[in-house]
Amino acid sequence: MYEQVKVMSSHIHYSPLPTNESDISNIHKFAFPKISRLKIVGVTFVILLSVVLVVISCFNKGYCSNKSVCNPESEGNRSDRGQYGKGEHIKFHHMKRRLPQCIIIGARKAGTRALLTYLNIHPGIVVKGEEMHFFDDEDYYYDSLESYRKQMPYSYPDQITIEKTPAYFTEEEVPERIYRMNKTIKLLLIFRDPVERTISDYVQIAEGKKSKNKYVASFEDHVLDSKGNINRSYRAVKSSIYHKHLSRWLEFFSLNQIYIIESKDLVENPSVVMYDVEDFLQIEHEIKPSNFYFNKTKGFYCVKTDTLQKCLADSKGRQHPHVQRSVISKLRRFFAPHNRKLYKMVGTDFHWAEE
Ligand code: A3P
Repeated sequence: MYEQVKVMSSHIHYSPLPTNESDISNIHKFAFPKISRLKIVGVTFVILLSVVLVVISCFNKGYCSNKSVCNPESEGNRSDRGQYGKGEHIKFHHMKRRLPQCIIIGARKAGTRALLTYLNIHPGIVVKGEEMHFFDDEDYYYDSLESYRKQMPYSYPDQITIEKTPAYFTEEEVPERIYRMNKTIKLLLIFRDPVERTISDYVQIAEGKKSKNKYVASFEDHVLDSKGNINRSYRAVKSSIYHKHLSRWLEFFSLNQIYIIESKDLVENPSVVMYDVEDFLQIEHEIKPSNFYFNKTKGFYCVKTDTLQKCLADSKGRQHPHVQRSVISKLRRFFAPHNRKLYKMVGTDFHWAEE
């Protein structure tokens, strides 16, 4: 028996433990099949490329689920939301195109562009740069509210979308149409001394005609009728009879839904006016005096943020023509009773000159 065991053990193949480095490397080669360096580089490249493509498509389509990568807010980069054109084209996570919760309804040539530009400084506001003319254009209005919404910039749920179309103030159908869209909407309205506004309106219309090589009659020719009285049917005059237009708005909206600004205040103290507008909109005070600087060449305040300095276009703050003193006096006398009706309606005396 002992002999049998001894013979069997002599037939068992015995592998000794490795003792030197070349033996160890042989074991590794056995456990992990050989992968060439080229293949590793190739696979790594493909993985990296896929990650880059996913991130790009997530930015483009707004399908980003990784907030820390795709949502600037989650990175605490709140200031990104205060830039011009924010939300116009770029859509981040949670952003949607929303109907405006606030509209600048007028008045034309009273500083509506300046107001919209100043509001755009606020990170809690997104603005539609173009005038929409949705509620005063029959075809557009009867197209659908949905097509209007789709024109709005992207916004976060806590942001206010604002558009401005000064033509809304004077168009008959508009108050009811806006009321039907949103009866609790907030409205912003700027009044400018009606004589100045009428002249500014004339300048705007004249510029349009000049650019088409059309004849431009003088301001006096437009504003006076054949008997030398104020021409009530001249559009620039009609638009300045504010109480008539405002009374139509008050059939649908209460006065505390309409925030009224005097144009001169906006020109002279933009930061003070904007502070009050922020209160009206019930948003934090983010628009600071440091966001404005006076540009002597322009003759107006311009906007300054961390990333930009901007004055309004040359079409804002135009030179007005010289108007005969007698015509100015006639206009002042003409508007005086209308202005007084307006002061009574809004509970504020704007102290516009009467002579
Ligand atoms: P004028 O061109 O007659 O001076 P709107 O934007 O509603 O068309 O109003 C234009 C008016 O905005 C200008 O009329 C100008 O008086 C006024 N305005 C107010 N703030 C301004 C600013 N910061 N820069 C230029 N114009 C400003």
